[in-house]
Amino acid sequence: MRILAWTALALLVLAAAGAALFVVFYRQAKVSTVGDVEFVNELRIPAIDRGARGDDGVVRYDLEVQAGETQFLADGPATATWGVNGSFLGPTLRLRRGDTVEMNVANELPEATTLHWHGMHLPAAMDGGPHQMVEAGGSWRPTWIVDQPAATLWYHPHPHGETAEHVQRGVAGMIIVEDPEAEAELPAEYGVDDVPVIIQDRSFDGDNQFATDDKFLSNVGILGDEVLVNGTHSPYFEATTERVRLRLLNGSNARFYDLGFDDGRTFALIGTDGGLLAEPVELDRIPLSPGERAEIVVDVAPGDRAVLRSFGGLGGGSFFNDRFNGHDDRFDVLELRAAGELEPSPELPDTLAEIERLDPRSAATVREFRLSGTNINGRDMDMRRIDEVVTVDTTEIWEVRNADGQAHNFHVHDVQFQIIDVAGDAPPPEAAGWKDTVAIRAGDTVRLIMRFADYSDPDVPYMFHCHILRHEDRGMMGQFVVVEPGDVAGSPPDDHDN
Ligand code: C2O
Ligand code: CU
Ligand code: CU
Repeated sequence: MRILAWTALALLVLAAAGAALFVVFYRQAKVSTVGDVEFVNELRIPAIDRGARGDDGVVRYDLEVQAGETQFLADGPATATWGVNGSFLGPTLRLRRGDTVEMNVANELPEATTLHWHGMHLPAAMDGGPHQMVEAGGSWRPTWIVDQPAATLWYHPHPHGETAEHVQRGVAGMIIVEDPEAEAELPAEYGVDDVPVIIQDRSFDGDNQFATDDKFLSNVGILGDEVLVNGTHSPYFEATTERVRLRLLNGSNARFYDLGFDDGRTFALIGTDGGLLAEPVELDRIPLSPGERAEIVVDVAPGDRAVLRSFGGLGGGSFFNDRFNGHDDRFDVLELRAAGELEPSPELPDTLAEIERLDPRSAATVREFRLSGTNINGRDMDMRRIDEVVTVDTTEIWEVRNADGQAHNFHVHDVQFQIIDVAGDAPPPEAAGWKDTVAIRAGDTVRLIMRFADYSDPDVPYMFHCHILRHEDRGMMGQFVVVEPGDVAGSPPDDHDN
């Protein structure tokens, strides 16, 4: 009896200690930099690269992926980083619709990598996915015709199993697609009233190096406890015009943001992943999951200060997942400081772009994708398996279900899609335009409609995946080929030993 009682007591004490410890961890897991950021560094603006037009009319860009060191913090040593044509991040590439472009990619890293053009419509062999590895010291020259509306896209490595690490070290950059035929009158002076805002969370260790440890009890990989913008720690941007267009890119490995301003001011959402919206939408918050972009136009008054802030993540998962995967965290991201006198800006146009709605009745196929754990439809990514075969020149509906207790997102290469509905409801305004990446709350199903207009190739696949990079690396990715009517899938090039 005695022994039993003592055992019971001991178990009770242990359980209580365990619960207390959990409460401590749960409390400590929440990160907030709100009110703590001093905004002492002027926002870095990545160089803009418009390419060089050759005699043959082809516009060429030279991109050298390299290792280096970057001084992010005022005190202490520099951080070992990777970048493109520099030590961290890369130039903003300006591409024009209708041009033939060629990327001259040189890999000066000590290991193989790829460069993927996220959001670009192009042949699969040019896509820079895991089948287009560039060996250390090697080079790669993809070329394509830019054939899509004006948009904010981006580029980043995509080596299977190592994407998270390569992106975290700093290889990424923005792409601005311009459409000379259809340009609404919008702020467009790069770095002045048209400003790239690449948001990435990082933690620094005691030696100022990027911390690469997973957060305790999180399953999304690397989450930082601070936010850099364009590689600038504690950044401010000096506005000199009445209106500022911010091209927001969530270039983080795993973090979801919910962005707005500290004073609650509204802004105009003018574009999402694949291009401009039909008309501006007034909002006070814009959620961004990893890989997503949003273009907003903010009004400022002379002498104004406003802080771009993240008020949380996506949420909607279990309280445990939401807390440990960062959805309860808050960050001060960037301070806008308006000059005492401002240059006038044009009024925002009432209409921005014509968006042809894809008709669900025109869909030839409905495919189902079930996201859970780190796989899709119960299968891990296999470089040698083609998961889906799409017939060129058809429209499809993809039903993507998040069957997990935590948030995921879903990205499709090659095409921009439209969202038919989210958990049965019409999409919110920020999800009503062209998209290539969509956040999906725990338990929700989103229905996407997309048209595979061209570029058939039975052998070289495009990817679809969760853009939480750890999930993608662990297998939450699949491959599809686009084929001529009646064709079957070939076999992916055997160029990778995964
Ligand atoms: Cu942003 Cu498959 O990539
Ligand atoms: Cu992509
Ligand atoms: Cu995921």
